[in-house]
Amino acid sequence: MSKLEEIYSHLPDAPTEKTLAKADYEARHWSSPVQGPLKPGTAAHKKAVADMFRETFNPYKPSVIKWPELDPVTLKRITSLPIWDIAVQTEGKARLRMAAYADMIDDPDMKDALSRNAWEENRHKEVLSNLVAAYDIKMAPEPPYITPKDTEWAYLVTGFSECVDSFFAFGLFALAEQAGLFPMELVETFEPVMQEECRHILLFANWLAWHRAVMPWWKRPWFEARVVAVWAFLAYERMDLAKSMDQDGNEYTQDNNFTVSGAKEMTDIDIKLPALMQLCLDENDRRFAHYDHRLRRPTTMPNLVRTGLAAYRAWDKISRKVRKRRLAA
Ligand SMILES: [Fe+2]
Ligand SMILES: [Fe+2]
Repeated sequence: MSKLEEIYSHLPDAPTEKTLAKADYEARHWSSPVQGPLKPGTAAHKKAVADMFRETFNPYKPSVIKWPELDPVTLKRITSLPIWDIAVQTEGKARLRMAAYADMIDDPDMKDALSRNAWEENRHKEVLSNLVAAYDIKMAPEPPYITPKDTEWAYLVTGFSECVDSFFAFGLFALAEQAGLFPMELVETFEPVMQEECRHILLFANWLAWHRAVMPWWKRPWFEARVVAVWAFLAYERMDLAKSMDQDGNEYTQDNNFTVSGAKEMTDIDIKLPALMQLCLDENDRRFAHYDHRLRRPTTMPNLVRTGLAAYRAWDKISRKVRKRRLAA
């Protein structure tokens, strides 16, 4: 599997259970044989990032996935989820933006990793498109995918978006699995996609650390201002509602902030927000657990949620005490 274009022709058409289990294990476990620290900015760190991404590749082939037959209730639950348009379009956009940024960078290790990431986004799009076709889900027409003018900005938006969305998706996916509302075969089909997003944000966190480390000092303030602007943009985008039209011109409302509203739709479990956030944290830790600990992890979402949960628990404890005292008085 030397060249990126050759990957598809090497994907197995009928992998055995043993091959699948091996690929799944290797996609989740990786350590660099290099001893000592892996400091961003060093050749050892950069090589480790590229090796990690290449060696944890899961060679599943979207066209051979068998979509299970669903009972009418499950089928309705799946087809009515308001996520399919945005999911397909997000993968398409991610592929384009990652490929555009990979084209722009000279470093061969990072170029290789980012190009592979773009390829994997296209495979996600293929998986989703096959699912949509298999279950006859009505879709809005896809907008044209336009190459970004500001390639770095577009890549930063995509990378940080994935960090936010994957963090919540990990928890929601576990919740859906626990609720048992989707057939196990369907959950298993999406499991490699979920883990792939974990690898993607692991790559992004390490690309970011590398990029910062090798950047001339005088470029750094402008770059950090852009990072802040990206976060502001993402916060705005998630508070807003994305609208799209179907073939008949009917307007569909899609929830960019699907995480919380989606929890109710995905499962019948009445889960409270703090419990859902704890689940997202636990799943995040579990998915990252077996990658080399010297590699950087995305930290913003886990830290924000951890701080929010700690504040909520402290407040809850105090208000319980106050209530108890009032009752005793
Ligand atoms: Fe993706
Ligand atoms: Fe991704």
